Amino acid sequence: MSTPNKKPDLEDSINVTEVHDRLVRDVAACAREKRIATNGKEGISLWALVVGGAVFLIAGGILGGANFGSYSATFREGYERSPAPGAEDTGPVPKEALVAYMAKGAKIYSAKCNGCHGSEAKGNGSTYPSLVGTPWVIGETQRFAMIILNGLTGPVDNGKTYGVMPPQGIGMSPEDLATVMTYVRNNFGNSVGDVITLDMAKAAIEASAARAGAGNMVTGEELAAEHTKMLPGDALDPKTMVDPISLAPATAP
Ligand code: HEC
Repeated sequence: MSTPNKKPDLEDSINVTEVHDRLVRDVAACAREKRIATNGKEGISLWALVVGGAVFLIAGGILGGANFGSYSATFREGYERSPAPGAEDTGPVPKEALVAYMAKGAKIYSAKCNGCHGSEAKGNGSTYPSLVGTPWVIGETQRFAMIILNGLTGPVDNGKTYGVMPPQGIGMSPEDLATVMTYVRNNFGNSVGDVITLDMAKAAIEASAARAGAGNMVTGEELAAEHTKMLPGDALDPKTMVDPISLAPATAP
């Protein structure tokens, strides 16, 4: 004997198929809206993130005593940064003046003189004279400087005629001039043993600008008449310790 079904027959009031379809649709929609994490790692709400972030920023600023205008205001009054380790002994190790000047002069020589006078300064025996042992190099410093700055033309007093040397002084600093002179006077077999100072080089540049024929190359006659003398000032003792970069005399530590 079968018990009669007491439940009302829903078929009459509700379309079960339609309800089922709607349910399936809605669940799918919900699933698209939000992935529900079941492992307790639900994404944090955007609102909580923004509000929490703002609170941390402001509270951190207040606790840290930040003055948002100026970074240094975050240091306590009277605070002084201690120098970085080794900062007291800045600057390169001092070198003997002759060594430091020669190192710089070598670069000027290869840039400005080497092309004509050669890497051993021997010239070529015809158009380019040798710079080894000649009084024009190892003798009076003003004459030597005038040749470099203004170039040289015409016969020279050893009776030989070479080519024409164009001026090399354009863009030459006192340092360039002093170091290249020192280099040539103490290299290639020359060994005068003195160091042309920056002041001597400045004096040479001034004398060059003051020449009656400024802008023209010097001649043997002009050199003999006007420039066969030493540049004013004392040459530097070659053993003086100098900063190899600035060439300034090194200060005792
Ligand atoms: C473009 C080629 C050229 C360059 C670059 C040049 N010279 Fe000369 N130099 C000559 C010529 C040529 C003579 C000979 C000029 C004359 O007798 O009238 C000469 C002559 C000299 C003399 C005179 C020597 C002597 O016995 O007559 C000296 C010193 C000298 N040069 C030094 C230098 C130095 C230092 C430099 C670089 C700063 C330099 N020259 C760059 C071509 C050059």
